[in-house]
Amino acid sequence: MFRLTSRTASVRASAMRVQPRHVHIQFAPTGQPWRRHPSSDPETPTVFTFYEKDTSTWQYIVVDPRTSEAVIIDPVLDYDPASGVLSTATADGLVSFVEHNGLKVIRILETHAHADHLTAAQYLKQELNGDVPVCIGQRIKQVQETFAPIYGLELSSLENAFDVYLGDNEEFKLGSLSCHVLHLPGHTPDHVGFVIGKAVFAGDSIFNPDVGSARADFPGGNVETLYASMQRLLSLPGDYRLYVGHDYPQNRDQTCFSTVAEQRAKNRHVKEGTDATTFIQWRKDRDAVLGAPRLLHPSLQVNIRAGRLPPPDEHGRVFLRTPVKLDVKLE
Ligand SMILES: [Fe+2]
Repeated sequence: MFRLTSRTASVRASAMRVQPRHVHIQFAPTGQPWRRHPSSDPETPTVFTFYEKDTSTWQYIVVDPRTSEAVIIDPVLDYDPASGVLSTATADGLVSFVEHNGLKVIRILETHAHADHLTAAQYLKQELNGDVPVCIGQRIKQVQETFAPIYGLELSSLENAFDVYLGDNEEFKLGSLSCHVLHLPGHTPDHVGFVIGKAVFAGDSIFNPDVGSARADFPGGNVETLYASMQRLLSLPGDYRLYVGHDYPQNRDQTCFSTVAEQRAKNRHVKEGTDATTFIQWRKDRDAVLGAPRLLHPSLQVNIRAGRLPPPDEHGRVFLRTPVKLDVKLE
């Protein structure tokens, strides 16, 4: 197993470790800002949010306060495409938070194979003692079948890249809480959401009301299916919180969730009264003029491997591939 970069010993030493305890979670600063979203509902977890600004990604540490068990959702691995430098400052912030608070991470969850950032799942697994399963929706295999040939990969090399392939409506425990897996295709075919009490981690299946919706033009994406997935989310009880995978605010601070009631009333693309035909046509027109995400190729190559890099060559060098589309004849 390769190692990416290691955090310094001083980072580890500075982390005042707190043993798991019931009810009380100690908070300590990390290198990045985070926010705490508690709930008075006993079946709903405490949600800690970490915004990664380079890719506008919301990362989540979701905690059962009764047992200190936690899941990490959609963690980011830092990557600078100009220099090729991978780094782990963002992921290290998550690890430090876990260590400071004595959390027991039981799963790393991916909502889908992201095309705009690299997942830190494998790095986190390594840093969290190597036995935390990395989980994704079962239709990741469809995404792998699509992209493996594009990057010159043998599909067989991707078998068992993930530790757990989640089925539709599968349930698993987070300490004393129940987590329900929702298949939410459209943005990508493998996309899932996680419902834990009144907290819903919707990934890119819906965005905050003034942002609206995500693109549906990736291979395997589908606008009609995205609309159906959004309606599925909007059919949940009004006080459920829909935590989003990204936020792209124009004139406000970043926000990690809106309630279902707020989404029904205000979502600029699918609020109540919007018919499917209108949304579908608008989304298709919009997607037709969108460019490729900045980190498309690095992201997909790493993310369909569950966060692993391609194997190094005989000199130990690691390369990521960029498929070239030629519209000129070159020797
Ligand atoms: Fe996405």
